[in-house]
Amino acid sequence: MSEGSRREFEILSKMRKEALTGDPNAIAKQHSRGKLTARERIELLVDPGTFVEFDMFVKHRATEFGMDKRVALGDGVVTGWGKIDGRPAVVIAQDFTFMGGSLGEMHAAKIVKAMMYALEAGLPIVFLNDSGGARIQEGVDSLKGYGEIFYMNVKASGVVPQIAAIMGPCAGGAVYSPALMDFIIMTRKTSFAFITGPRVVRAVTGEEVDEFGLGGAEIHATRSGVAHLVAEDDKHAIELIKKLLSYLPLNNVDEPPIVETGDDPEREDHELDNIVPADPAKVYDMHEVITRVVDKDTFFEIMPSFAPNAIIGFARLNGRPVCVVANNPAYLGGVLDINSSDKIARFVMFCDAFNLPILTFVDTPGYLPGVDQEHGGIIRHGAKVLYAYSEATVPKLTVIVRKAYGGAYIAMGSRHLGADYVIAWPTAEIAVMGPEGATEIIWRRELAQAKTPEERQEMLNRFASEYRSKFANPYIAASRGYIEDVAMPHETRPRLVKALEFLYAKREVRVREPPKKHGIPPV
Ligand code: HXC
Repeated sequence: MSEGSRREFEILSKMRKEALTGDPNAIAKQHSRGKLTARERIELLVDPGTFVEFDMFVKHRATEFGMDKRVALGDGVVTGWGKIDGRPAVVIAQDFTFMGGSLGEMHAAKIVKAMMYALEAGLPIVFLNDSGGARIQEGVDSLKGYGEIFYMNVKASGVVPQIAAIMGPCAGGAVYSPALMDFIIMTRKTSFAFITGPRVVRAVTGEEVDEFGLGGAEIHATRSGVAHLVAEDDKHAIELIKKLLSYLPLNNVDEPPIVETGDDPEREDHELDNIVPADPAKVYDMHEVITRVVDKDTFFEIMPSFAPNAIIGFARLNGRPVCVVANNPAYLGGVLDINSSDKIARFVMFCDAFNLPILTFVDTPGYLPGVDQEHGGIIRHGAKVLYAYSEATVPKLTVIVRKAYGGAYIAMGSRHLGADYVIAWPTAEIAVMGPEGATEIIWRRELAQAKTPEERQEMLNRFASEYRSKFANPYIAASRGYIEDVAMPHETRPRLVKALEFLYAKREVRVREPPKKHGIPPV
């Protein structure tokens, strides 16, 4: 190395060292809270030696409010690409140890550039959020930065998978980038997300609440539906990101990753024949059905605690990743309501965008009746499920396990919305409505003749049983060709595996659509 080169290398090494060394007090504070730094998180996420950082020397340009004295190389965010379990991705990690990870002009510019790389190269975006929001000292330049990030989130939507982990504060405008991404993982004890914090809430509405009560992981995973997964800590969040990516293609034209699961595609599970109780009023857990049908140990549930009357998640069938959507009769009888409709519709849209076949298990008495639901817009929200399934062009396979009544029968992956292969178990009840409601309507006059409540009940039971044998079974639908077959529960897995083999090429076949810019889902 010449003398000149050596000097340049020394300068560069000094700058690199400066960029890589944060404020030790702020780092100690971060650790004392059970949080890792941005670089430590990246180290856990990417395969050793694969991370290539961009824009390490970027600095902010602000001078007001003493900002000229508060400068750090990198400006509070680390961006770059690296391999995650051998597959490439773009990684963005906010550094809370510099100005609380707050987002100013240059911090935002780095994020936007990284997202642009992801979009151009067709790579998933993993964004580790830990930020106090818009950097107050940079004013409108911070807002511009957020606006540009949101714009990129939307441009990337449906092109590359976008995963956000919230691993600290996520306040104000910061919440909307994760909200525009496909999945949000929140750390249980160290993260919170809200538009306006507890102090503003107190001032405006008088409500007393702390950060976690307002927007902690638990709240967002159970009540608001903002968070898809809750991680116990940073390390667990990284594991969940890796698991999620393992089911996803790199982009919307990439092949979803097929892996050898070692589960026999011909495996018949005779326990399935005993899961659905003979009494239609009795419940069972649909998880049991799902896990017995798909490849062993591959079911990965998403949003398990929000609207648990619906189940969504990823799994594999003979190694191929599929999206599972199901009603769960163990919770509210598996009814479709506002929250479960939103949960299902968004997931179906995601799966369709990334060429993942949709496997639906149906057992629902229908859409939930009630003033709250009607006034809350069940019509609008329920319509999202119809829209999402109808729009999806990926292979759609449906198993009608038990109840498939009314609008919910149509919505849950029926042939009428374009399903490719629908099978029903002999326990299936496919009809306009359940026997209880139907008997009250069609035998109203006869029931009015009953002289005693006992006689009325006896008539109801008789009519319900007649209705059930005439209508609430799979054979009328089968006779019309609305379902492809009636199959024993234990035959389900081999049939689905074969169907998927035949249908897999469907995703490559162009589906003829009337020309339009885009449809307008009932959001
Ligand atoms: C500038 C910020 C900041 C911000 C934190 N810091 N948030 N600097 N702009 N938004 C700085 C702090 O001044 C502090 O600097 C350092 O980061 C660490 O913050 P602390 O408060 O000491 O940490 P902690 O106690 O953990 O509290 C973290 C926090 C709190 C909960 C995030 O800092 C906070 O409430 N910040 C403001 C959050 C907020 O209201 N954001 C919304 C902004 S408006 P020193 O010098 O002490 O190390 C917005 C609208 C955008 O985002 C709309 C776009 C569409």
